[in-house]
Amino acid sequence: MKAKLTLHKDFSIGILDERVYGSFIEHLGRAVYTGIYEPGHPEADEAGFREDVIRLVRELNVPIVRYPGGNFVSGYNWEDGVGPLERRPTRMELAWATLEPNKIGVNEFVEWAKKAGTEVMMAVNLGTRGPDAARNLVEYCNFPKGTEWSDLRRSHGYENPHGIKLWCLGNEMDGQWQICHRTADEYGRVALEAAKVMKWTDPSIELVTCGSSSSIMPTFGTWETTVLEHTYEHIDYVSLHTYYGNRDNDTPSFLARSLEMDSFIKTIVGVCDLVKARKRSKKTVNLSFDEWNVWFHSNNAKVEKWTVAPPLLEDVYTMEDALLVGCMLITLLKNADRVKVACLAQLVNVIAPIMTEAGGGVWRQTIFYPFAQMSKYGRGMVLRGEIVCDRYDTKDIDGVPYLESVAVRDEQGLTIFAVNRNLCEALVLEIELTGFDTKNGRFIEHTVMRHDNLKAANSAKGELVKPVAQVAGKLEGAALELMLPSASWNVIRLGL
Ligand code: AHR
Repeated sequence: MKAKLTLHKDFSIGILDERVYGSFIEHLGRAVYTGIYEPGHPEADEAGFREDVIRLVRELNVPIVRYPGGNFVSGYNWEDGVGPLERRPTRMELAWATLEPNKIGVNEFVEWAKKAGTEVMMAVNLGTRGPDAARNLVEYCNFPKGTEWSDLRRSHGYENPHGIKLWCLGNEMDGQWQICHRTADEYGRVALEAAKVMKWTDPSIELVTCGSSSSIMPTFGTWETTVLEHTYEHIDYVSLHTYYGNRDNDTPSFLARSLEMDSFIKTIVGVCDLVKARKRSKKTVNLSFDEWNVWFHSNNAKVEKWTVAPPLLEDVYTMEDALLVGCMLITLLKNADRVKVACLAQLVNVIAPIMTEAGGGVWRQTIFYPFAQMSKYGRGMVLRGEIVCDRYDTKDIDGVPYLESVAVRDEQGLTIFAVNRNLCEALVLEIELTGFDTKNGRFIEHTVMRHDNLKAANSAKGELVKPVAQVAGKLEGAALELMLPSASWNVIRLGL
């Protein structure tokens, strides 16, 4: 099978906002306790943070991490997690039916983020709480000194403000499962009032308002319209969430889900711009895709309730999951003009690229690799490439291209990310380059991740699935021909 990708140096979508390589840590399962934090572990530092985990987070090069939820945040009292440890309460955590010991809170997480080389994206509770607790948290985190909340932070040992710039106005408030779920009007009103007092407390912050929990929600579309009618001039981004699963073991359909993600994004861009027009606004609201991943393997797992850090949502990812994650990342980049933040949900142990064993080692899931490679090489100007290739139909989507691809140009050259969705045939890819200085160009590398068994997975015992460098290709003038094996994830780097 053949495919052609045409790239022009100046045909671009836009400069990628690096926060698209964000991730997410929720107080859920073993993400925090025995994930990032495990005092007494041989790899724990003086604060109890696992350095083996920090090393892998740094390898993923995640610029921002959303915290502390997720569904968790809608019942969270942030004050429970600050101040002397011995005074922190253990609470019934209603979102996941666990016990929350509050050993880690805002200050510790900021410390961890510094060690992991990332920034915090903080979510406030608009479920059981509201604008008052939200503005107090902004004051606690960001105001220098001389007020009750800023001086409380200083008394807790944090003289300098944390300077947290990006804040989420609650989480998935459209979902019936959410603690104190609201209608779009109810949420829109409370989000507006929270936004006002939060920005009055610190005008430099940016705010994300809740969009739909997925595009299959019954209120999808009308939710965003109503919420934006209330909040438009006071917020900066609207959130999108989506998770996909291969429950029917229909892999061609599963791999086509990124097209659904693309149309989800384009619909919400349309809603934002509709509200902009209705309000005659000069401001553009962009998108924060702050939960996305594959999630289904752990759906029926039975876990004991009301325990601390039970093994919840511990999906073990396969080769085919990594292919869809690659397609989803490519989709985010193809919408780089409007998607400014995105969070792979989540980061450690809970539907995560990084897994730990309590008291033991740490390992990379299959989905770790497409993310790490794109985060490393996919920063710069995203190009608007033209793909010509064969297509296939699924039960939901017609005309799915076998080739999914995007290219990013930076000072070093050009990197092309590509998935061959064809499960049986290799794809011979011709790449035509226009407007580049190809005379002085060189082929750097082509790495391929594939496995004969699409259900192959990594584990604590070893990595069956990871990228492997191919025998070098050749750049001949402005053209390049490469072979992308069936069902493979490919990264092609050219020095130009
Ligand atoms: O990421 C797991 C959960 O998925 C989050 O807590 C919630 O926001 C979403 O439903």
